[in-house]
Amino acid sequence: MRIAQITDTHIAVPPLAAREADLERHINAILALDPRPDLVVHTGDAANSGSAEEYAVLRRLMARLPMPWVIVPGNRDSRARMRAAFAGLPWIEKQDNAQGDAQAPLIFTVQLGPLLLIGMDSKGPRTNKGWMDEERLARLDSLLAQAGGAPVVIAMHHPPFVITEMSDSRQFADWDHVRALEACLLRHPNVELIITGHTHRFARGQIAKRPAFTMPAAAHDLRKGSARALGEAPAILMHDFTANGRWQETRLIQGKTDPAPAPLPAASEC
Ligand SMILES: [Fe+2]
Repeated sequence: MRIAQITDTHIAVPPLAAREADLERHINAILALDPRPDLVVHTGDAANSGSAEEYAVLRRLMARLPMPWVIVPGNRDSRARMRAAFAGLPWIEKQDNAQGDAQAPLIFTVQLGPLLLIGMDSKGPRTNKGWMDEERLARLDSLLAQAGGAPVVIAMHHPPFVITEMSDSRQFADWDHVRALEACLLRHPNVELIITGHTHRFARGQIAKRPAFTMPAAAHDLRKGSARALGEAPAILMHDFTANGRWQETRLIQGKTDPAPAPLPAASEC
């Protein structure tokens, strides 16, 4: 069983053609994988400003994927517009408990054989950093308990671990939120892996002694640190699991660059 991860596409309308081209290259690279992944997870900042037009582009492009795919919200994303744009897709229809509130944290689950993926919302209020308040943690705790000991992968935008390669090494607004998340995960040894985006670069860490990853942005103009060396090549993080859902291996797959590179737009922040 394998999950392919992409992140931080920052699709922008009015169009930054390079961002769409970047996502298309990633989709082409996923389609060329052999064997193909069972699920594609986008870990947020899918849209640059969270407009309906940007999500329309995302839905059109992501629809080329023949396997299930999901998007967790990042700080740039609009929960309400994501809910509207991706209505009808199973992960939106089976949200945890939004109770009709379009602005409520977007939390969902996807069952993949014995493995449960929890899409967790780490978007904060009035901050581009991560957020994990008591209410969200209670929902996560409940979902983890419902899994009944089955293996779980948690996908969220913000990495809950210190990244020493970054000048600002902590990507949560309040590190007490990370400590509380860690306490929650320590109660649930069935969590196998935490996968995240946001930093626009590759880093590996851990929380509650579980492996945790963040990865290069799909938007090549926004790549940071060593991810800049990838140029325009697609970057896919491949997570492999055993048949019974135990995490086996994660590796960064670097695809080939198309011969005609798109022009670079001006860089902006994450
Ligand atoms: Fe981003």
